[in-house]
Amino acid sequence: MTDPRDPLSLADDAPLLAAWLRFDAGVRDGGITPFTIPGHKHRTDLVGEVIRGDVPFVGGLDSMKQSGGVLGDAERRAAAAWGVDFARLSVGGSTHANQAAVLALGRPGQSVVISRTLHRSLLLGIVFAGLRPVWVRPEIDAATGLPGAVPVAAVRHALAENPDACGVIVGDPSYVGTMSDIAGLAGAAHEAGVPLVVDAAWAAYFGFSPFMPPHALTQGADALVTSAHKTLPAWSQAALLLARTTRTGGLLDADRLERGFDASQSTSAAGAILASTDASRALLQRHGAVLVDRLIALVHSARERLSAVGGLVTLTSRGAQHPDGWLEVDPAKLVVLLAGTGAHGHDVEADLLETGLPLEMADRDVLIPIVTLADDESSVTRLVEALISSIERHRGAPRRMMPSSAWTVESESALDPRTAFFAPHETVPASAAPGRVCAELIAPYPPGVPVLAPGEIVTAAAIDALRSTLADGGRIAYAADPTLRTIQVVSR
Ligand SMILES: Cc1ncc(COP(=O)(O)O)c(C=O)c1O
Repeated sequence: MTDPRDPLSLADDAPLLAAWLRFDAGVRDGGITPFTIPGHKHRTDLVGEVIRGDVPFVGGLDSMKQSGGVLGDAERRAAAAWGVDFARLSVGGSTHANQAAVLALGRPGQSVVISRTLHRSLLLGIVFAGLRPVWVRPEIDAATGLPGAVPVAAVRHALAENPDACGVIVGDPSYVGTMSDIAGLAGAAHEAGVPLVVDAAWAAYFGFSPFMPPHALTQGADALVTSAHKTLPAWSQAALLLARTTRTGGLLDADRLERGFDASQSTSAAGAILASTDASRALLQRHGAVLVDRLIALVHSARERLSAVGGLVTLTSRGAQHPDGWLEVDPAKLVVLLAGTGAHGHDVEADLLETGLPLEMADRDVLIPIVTLADDESSVTRLVEALISSIERHRGAPRRMMPSSAWTVESESALDPRTAFFAPHETVPASAAPGRVCAELIAPYPPGVPVLAPGEIVTAAAIDALRSTLADGGRIAYAADPTLRTIQVVSR
């Protein structure tokens, strides 16, 4: 009989989900009275419903001695689903999985070729690993000012100039859904004898429908990081690290990946996060084609309805013959460009928030509502109608797009990030910071891409760009002083 808590009967192919269902049933019927952590002991009369569903991995999904082997089983199934020999399920998001991948690449002091539009987690991974970043930049799309593909030629050039490089890292698709030529990048990396790591945090569904792009591993990448919680029906913080390793003749050392991963995975991993990742993988394999195709159709129809609004543009793939030039975009990503409507993204975001429709990202010119395979026609129609009515309410004079400073930053490194991170630092007025070496990481959030990073020369242009984000109502994240009146710099 179908378990109402597992309506699509995934448990026979998802050992962690099966274990979660067993434990949860035991707690509900009183058969299990744990003398283990977590301290809430599944009682909802102390702090309330907030602890519902929280089953630990150790002492919950598996015994304290981990004799059941359920995690290994689930990870082998994940590896098979992505066609590789290595998979680990993370409870620390793509942040943790990215850092584990960076820790597996090289030795302290070696260089790594990496896109400057990287997520902060990768930059901190470089600090942990003591690598020296050699930046490559994506092309900026002339029509929108948004980041496009990371040029293969730039990666090839960077590798030729830095023969000590231990790997190449790119984020693909980018935060705004634009894509690079992964097969070309993998070819360039492999010609230099180094692995390609792809941070695909936003695209866990790639490769699971013929209408989706293939995932990076089938295009030659050596490792792929993805957040199951971002686009799949998994608990917050759920992520996967997948790789082709030395076990099957690959370039990435499996032992280093294991060690890097275990270095910062909690020893008290939340079983519900792991079980929902396992279930999401089973769902993708069993029903992915139907669910992902339906998602693509939902986003396609939302793009069509929104594009009929005067001045509004939605980001879509463009062929090489298009007057605005070639651009490849995740078919399930809804990116709404507002400049031609004159409406301000923060006003639209506030209206939507008021009606119970929080958005993933909004700045003056760009809105990104995340649509996933958990959405349906009614939720997306509600979103589209609310967007249209708010945009009409705030309509104004069309303006030029002002892309986030995260995409346009020109940085100059003076110290490697690790040296700068650990160097003595001081706090100076922002007016005195240009020319000094930055000690902290400062990023508009979203997208969390650093405009200033430890080791980079602070420039007046970077401060101006960050201040204009602030002035426009955006959030500056990770800075010790988010008002940007002061900046932390490396002491002289
Ligand atoms: C490109 C990219 N990589 C990694 C991450 C980190 O993911 P998580 O929040 O799952 O740790 C993010 C988060 O937004 C991201 O945008």
